[in-house]
Amino acid sequence: MRNLLIAAGIFWSAASLAAHPEGEYVARVADCMACHTTANGAPMAGGKAFPTPLGDIYSTNITPDKTHGIGRYSYADFEKALRQGIAKDGHPLYPAMPYPSYAKLSDADLRALYDYMMQDVPPSATANKESEIPWLLSARWPLHLWNAFFTDSPQPAPANASDALKRGAYLVAGPGHCGACHTPRGFAMQEKAYDDSDAAFLSGAMIDGWYAPSLRGLNLSAEELKSLLLIGRSKHAAVSGSMSEVVTQSTQYLSETDADAIAQYLLSLKGATPPRQAQSSQRASSSDAGKTVYLRYCSTCHGEQGKGTDDNVPSLVNNPMVQADDPGSLVRIIVDGAETPTTRGNVSFKMPAYRGTLSDQQIRDVTDYVRGAWGNGAGAAQ
Ligand code: HEC
Ligand code: HEC
Ligand code: HEC
Repeated sequence: MRNLLIAAGIFWSAASLAAHPEGEYVARVADCMACHTTANGAPMAGGKAFPTPLGDIYSTNITPDKTHGIGRYSYADFEKALRQGIAKDGHPLYPAMPYPSYAKLSDADLRALYDYMMQDVPPSATANKESEIPWLLSARWPLHLWNAFFTDSPQPAPANASDALKRGAYLVAGPGHCGACHTPRGFAMQEKAYDDSDAAFLSGAMIDGWYAPSLRGLNLSAEELKSLLLIGRSKHAAVSGSMSEVVTQSTQYLSETDADAIAQYLLSLKGATPPRQAQSSQRASSSDAGKTVYLRYCSTCHGEQGKGTDDNVPSLVNNPMVQADDPGSLVRIIVDGAETPTTRGNVSFKMPAYRGTLSDQQIRDVTDYVRGAWGNGAGAAQ
């Protein structure tokens, strides 16, 4: 695990010198950086925008600066913010901050995280930005209600689970907050479940124009899954979109044992719903058109049989993104292209963007083709 922490220095120069490496590890797994740092800003100095239907809100400065950051937070204040979503001055935090997941952090991890945040993160005098939410909501009163209804207390793991499964469940539902993107949300933006006592947990959700597929009943080996988390690709698949950022900033720093625990735990989850039946018969005519587009634009890299090339171009056969209930990410990657994350174990490879090259109809055709070809059997795009 020390080796992994040293590798962190590539992205954060002082990282390997942290006086609290345990806390730094928790910060990595919990991915505090992702939301609390802007592209050119100081680490953890906040200011990243989170669009909501009512206007943007901004993450805050969580460096130990005493004026602009959380330098005056006691451990009790910190615990209240992370577990209950209540800031030091008593106002409830918007649920963009995934405190319902962080509520599950162990006391030891939370303490280590606090020591690290207070003593290793350099203070930055960056002022917080005001949110753009209209005044009625920025009075923030509905959030107290939100909290009362939707956040639960930590769920004990079943007594007969192995240590690896327990650790995996903890990492996924707690610090890793995988459900923040992979669990569907309900009418008030709450995640429909915060642990595996409910089959909605990790059953797939749309997030910022990407579909984060169901992590239940995954058709991958533990090795492949581990490799996706640690280097952003496996022999046959690759991550993209927001998952690329998750890998770059967070999961690539997992210890082997923890990556293994997550893989074992996820593979122990049963599928939420029976796989949808292919509806390709409804779109029989689109199939040929889609094949033509595929052979012309895609097969040079992904191969006529969709198998890709080991270690460079992902296989589209039996691929979680291709087979997801919702074709959102597949369409998105064709339109915008993608790049595998640069991690310790991976040199980045690019997929070109087809915006402007392919018409909307061609994109629909090739989407349906890929979802139905080579035994994939996912539903048609509409
Ligand atoms: C998915 C995005 C996201 C992640 C991940 C995240 N935060 Fe936040 N956090 C936010 C946002 C957005 C706010 C501001 C909410 C508001 O103003 O109501 C916030 C607010 C806070 C606050 C309140 C600070 C204040 O202004 O008083 C603390 C403390 C905090 N986060 C700590 C953390 C820590 C520690 C981690 C990692 C364990 C973390 N956050 C991870 C989005 C995130
Ligand atoms: C910020 C949102 C976000 C978070 C947090 C997140 N994911 Fe994802 N994840 C996505 C999106 C979007 C995709 C679809 C893109 C893709 O398939 O690579 C995805 C895809 C995946 C895939 C399929 C990769 C493939 O082969 O295409 C796996 C496995 C996965 N996530 C695991 C996890 C785990 C485990 C966690 C928690 C440690 C996690 N994710 C947290 C957004 C997220
Ligand atoms: C120049 C080579 C190249 C061409 C041409 C190409 N791709 Fe890709 N594709 C890639 C690479 C490299 C990746 C990995 C990028 C990533 O997922 O971050 C990828 C990723 C994908 C993924 C995501 C796989 C996963 O595991 O998440 C899908 C789906 C996909 N391509 C479909 C297509 C389709 C459909 C076409 C034609 C319209 C196409 N590609 C054309 C190289 C290519």
